Amino acid sequence: MKKLIVANWKLNPPTLKEAKKLAAAIVRKSKHVSVVCPPAGFLSGISFPRLGAQDCFWENRGAYTGQVSPVQLKSLKVKYCIVGHSEKRLLGETDEMVNAKARALLEQGITPVLCVGFGTKVEQDDLEVTDILKTQLEMDLKGLDASKVIVAYEPVWAISNGDPLATSKVASPEHAEKMAIFIKHRFGVGKVLYGGSVNPYNAKGYLDQPNIDGLLPGGASLIPKYFNQIINL
Ligand code: PGA
Repeated sequence: MKKLIVANWKLNPPTLKEAKKLAAAIVRKSKHVSVVCPPAGFLSGISFPRLGAQDCFWENRGAYTGQVSPVQLKSLKVKYCIVGHSEKRLLGETDEMVNAKARALLEQGITPVLCVGFGTKVEQDDLEVTDILKTQLEMDLKGLDASKVIVAYEPVWAISNGDPLATSKVASPEHAEKMAIFIKHRFGVGKVLYGGSVNPYNAKGYLDQPNIDGLLPGGASLIPKYFNQIINL
């Protein structure tokens, strides 16, 4: 079955020239569907069949210095936008902001890729994790049509520092599957992705789970050889 693989480039690469090269190195014909999320400043310079953004603001115009609006993203042909990533939550993004961003994106027909799992700890059992996800999603999805939202379960402790092979802690596919089932059944979410130190060696384990609809790789998405392998597993 075709799954959705969303490349989160984060604050990489440093130049537009390198970003274009990276996008060009991703194979266009693959088993799974791929989306590329470059830094906002490169969105208009990159040619890729499906573009995503890494963040947005919840208003579409006005005196909001430094923000990027969903309407602007739409005009750049962006189809997906990450919201609530733990690296943004760490800098102060609240569930209320995540909710407002997701709502504004849906109004423009852009699919939010809503990340949850901030605040979870490696030693927690499944029940403790679902408690955290429940609290987050009740606020993040408030008043939204959850069937139109993609949720990415990203246990914060499993996210890499950029090197996709260097991590010692990864979430098991079985744990990720249980969380995906919880998210879908409890909230009516359409698709659930897994993210956190995904690489070509562990990706298949997640993709084989029936309720995991795709992946959100960070570090591995910056290495075309790895990303091309993942989208063809
Ligand atoms: P990682 O990043 O694959 O480098 O762990 C995933 C993410 O933070 O979205």
